[in-house]
Amino acid sequence: MKIIRDKESMRALAITEKAAGRRIGFVPTMGALHEGHASLVRAAVAQDDVSVVSIFVNPTQFAPHEDLDTYPRTFEADCALLEELGVDVVYAPERASLYPDGYATYVTVEGLSEGLCSLSRPHFFRGVATVVTKLFATVLPDRAYFGQKDAQQCAIIKRMATDLDLGVEIIEMPIVREPDGLAMSSRNRYLSESERHEALRISAALRKAEALLAAGERDAATLLRRVRTEMAPLPVDYAVLVDAATIAPVTRVEGEVLLAVAVNMGSARLIDNIKYKAPVTPSASDRLKSEESVSCC
Ligand code: PAF
Repeated sequence: MKIIRDKESMRALAITEKAAGRRIGFVPTMGALHEGHASLVRAAVAQDDVSVVSIFVNPTQFAPHEDLDTYPRTFEADCALLEELGVDVVYAPERASLYPDGYATYVTVEGLSEGLCSLSRPHFFRGVATVVTKLFATVLPDRAYFGQKDAQQCAIIKRMATDLDLGVEIIEMPIVREPDGLAMSSRNRYLSESERHEALRISAALRKAEALLAAGERDAATLLRRVRTEMAPLPVDYAVLVDAATIAPVTRVEGEVLLAVAVNMGSARLIDNIKYKAPVTPSASDRLKSEESVSCC
């Protein structure tokens, strides 16, 4: 496994691999790796010719009052895990090389970046979209892997990849959970034992919502009321039902929806979600048409 620190060497390697007809699979991370990251890495290793994982704690997605300085940095352990998973390249650039003095260019994905997490972290998605664009420009991936836990981030990066003709296929991988249901996150390590226990209300509430959806509940207000009741008394930042692709709020479950929640637990902000695709029920006129086609054959 190669560890590359400078963007020139990373780009040169990517150009060589692509010239040889090899496809690059890329997993961008901020390190502090856990089983959720490992699932993305396994997919890249299995599906692509060359796997690249970046480790870079991106300053532009943190507000001044947030945890940039204390964000867990576990580079040695991360590299040991990535080596074990069979990764070809770790790209770990220095902050000054990505954001030198005078840096002034940012990527904003309008609309999708406006609700949910950006209400309490207005700077966040501009930082994510900017660094992911920069990483793509250096790593030149054919495919890039992201986790569904960051569902709004996934929707934004898919939109950005399409709108900017980046030529990267964005693969969204399922949420990986602890055996008791807590969605894996690098920030879970900020939780005290009792907060960790209380946090289980989040996945339990989402499981309840899933059961209601499976039983046919389609009213957003009813579903969200139930989710909030199940999560009480946790300090909920948001609980929303939105269209999974546009992240626009919906009042009824139709097509694919995302039920997403964020909770502030001590110094950790936990997010989690479920996606649900409502089965298409044929309209009365569709039913009539199909009855007519059966009767005329
Ligand atoms: O999801 C993350 O870990 C980060 O937001 C990402 C995509 C690596 C950008 O810094």
